[in-house]
Amino acid sequence: MCSGCSSLSLALSLFTNSHTLSSDRGGSIPVEIRTAVELQRINLIHRHLARLSEAAMSQSSLPASSIAPLKCSRADGIHTQEETDGNPIYDPHVIDAKMVQKLVYDGLVWSSLHGLVVGDRAVQRSGTVPGVGMVHAPFSLLPMAFPEGHWKQAGELAPIFNELIDRVSLDGQFLQDSLSRTKRVDEFTSRLLDIHARMMEINKKEEIRLGLNRSDYMLDAQTKLLLQIEFNTISSSFPGLSCLVSKLHRNLLSHYGIHLGLDYVKVPKNAAVDQFADALAKAWCEYNNSRAIVMIVVQPEERNMYDQHWLSALYNTHGVATVRKTLAEIDGESELLADGTLIINGEAVAVVYLRAGYAPTDYPSESEWRARLLMEQSSAIKCPSVAYHLAGTKKIQQELAKPNVLERFLNDKDDIDRLRKCFAGLWSLDDSDAVRDAIERPELYVMKPQREGGGNNIYGDDVRENLLRLQNEGTEENAAYILMQRIFPTVSPAFLIRQGICHKEHAISELGVYGAYLRNKERVIVNEQCGYLMRTKVSTSNEGGVAAGFAVLDSLYLT
Ligand SMILES: Nc1ncnc2c1ncn2[C@@H]1O[C@H](COP(=O)(O)OP(=O)(O)OP(=O)(O)O)[C@@H](O)[C@H]1O
Ligand SMILES: *[C@@H]1O[C@H](CO)[C@@H](O)[C@H](O)[C@H]1NC(C)=O
Ligand SMILES: *[C@@H]1O[C@H](CO)[C@@H](O)[C@H](O)[C@H]1NC(C)=O
Ligand SMILES: [Mg+2]
Repeated sequence: MCSGCSSLSLALSLFTNSHTLSSDRGGSIPVEIRTAVELQRINLIHRHLARLSEAAMSQSSLPASSIAPLKCSRADGIHTQEETDGNPIYDPHVIDAKMVQKLVYDGLVWSSLHGLVVGDRAVQRSGTVPGVGMVHAPFSLLPMAFPEGHWKQAGELAPIFNELIDRVSLDGQFLQDSLSRTKRVDEFTSRLLDIHARMMEINKKEEIRLGLNRSDYMLDAQTKLLLQIEFNTISSSFPGLSCLVSKLHRNLLSHYGIHLGLDYVKVPKNAAVDQFADALAKAWCEYNNSRAIVMIVVQPEERNMYDQHWLSALYNTHGVATVRKTLAEIDGESELLADGTLIINGEAVAVVYLRAGYAPTDYPSESEWRARLLMEQSSAIKCPSVAYHLAGTKKIQQELAKPNVLERFLNDKDDIDRLRKCFAGLWSLDDSDAVRDAIERPELYVMKPQREGGGNNIYGDDVRENLLRLQNEGTEENAAYILMQRIFPTVSPAFLIRQGICHKEHAISELGVYGAYLRNKERVIVNEQCGYLMRTKVSTSNEGGVAAGFAVLDSLYLT
């Protein structure tokens, strides 16, 4: 099929397209320009791979792909725009169209058979009734190349961040002070701070502390620095589905890797869900009441419920019973005993694991806030406590990046240097130099309110507009935001699959590293890295959420 000539012209047309890539809110994405020699090299690899995959095709008949209109049938001729670590890698994306169809079909079958699924928006009850209206989770057909050195670096940072966040959470005054201006303009953060202040007043001690977190990073293409996007301390999503995507990719590569020039062992194994489940079960053990249960706090409607069920099926894996409750249900069905025991429908709760409660919309009435307070007052282990939740806010992230603040919480100079190296530029809106620069060059910044869950950040020209508006108004509202350096990861071609349709896109990726931390008084029981989440999105999209529809689940391929 593809002669050298046609693939060269395809590569060229791709090259031209990529040149005009720009973010939808004005920030242009730097794209490397290819020399003729490089294009020729790509072309050669391409022809070689095409021959290999054609040989593979002739041996087996293709599955009829009546399932989905495959938009990516013209997959031939793609090339990566830049090798991730500067060394030539075997290009994972130079694949013949029939091979892509086969991979897509197998990937969709695998997802359906293995529970890599989410609720389908098109089906009304899919967010409330399990087993109704399931669709495969959006995923990337092949793993994303990622340099091994940076992968190791991210893993080594996990225990240092653990220690840092744990100490920050114990410094109630630091949390209250750092967030005091935010409190005046942000009602949601203010409510959390009120609960936190009440706990400080009664000198409430959390002896057993459980953190199930995810630290997110992007690899900056220009500086080759691994930079932290943020540290999630509440409701870190996808420990369940991310493991499945790693398995899916290892499975596809073990079948087809030889034709793709890819080796499945380069996709790191991912046991996030098992390690999180172990940490939950160990926390339950520490509570030391064999009749107590684990309570998962959820939103009334949750299309990402299967990710949660992968983790919360603790009875099957550890013999621990769980219940799922919304905040409103907890308000109606629970009580606090004099000794602090939290009771729900007559059963004692050992661990409260929050997969809701991170956004203002989770608190439509006072009922939900009553539930949050009641849980906080109880002796149940909270994952997270309000202090942990606050320690993960964007404002605290920005405060920690200020000179001499890390020194307040950590002693080891090497640890401090390592953390600093992964901090992107972070500024308060008090910083007039930063604000002036962001108004001049808004495409280099992201403006963030104190929110979780995606879709809240401000990019491009909107940064300028909002900053100017805040300046004119001269109110305290600027304390609701922070400014962050915008990170530009390497752009690579990828096949993104959503609703059974494969889209060939220019994509960027974000690596999340899960961590679990459990301690009982002075005894640290768990402090470990727990697998990873790769999210890949169209390079022109600003936000990164999978559930919010911006990104797909992915895994990584070490280079
Ligand atoms: N400094 C940055 N440079 C480039 N992209 C960014 C930056 N900060 C955030 N993003 C993008 O926006 C997404 C959401 O950002 P962030 O994680 O800060 O918000 P969030 O609302 O807490 O989201 P989540 O629910 O995923 O935790 C990120 O996943 C990333 O794709
Ligand atoms: C998780 O967060 C808690 C506080 O939120 C912290 O104590 C713990 O060290 C963190 N652990 C990891 C692995 O990130
Ligand atoms: C656990 O509970 C049992 C009985 O309820 C008690 O005898 C034991 O001392 C407790 N263990 C710890 C470590 O608190
Ligand atoms: Mg977040």
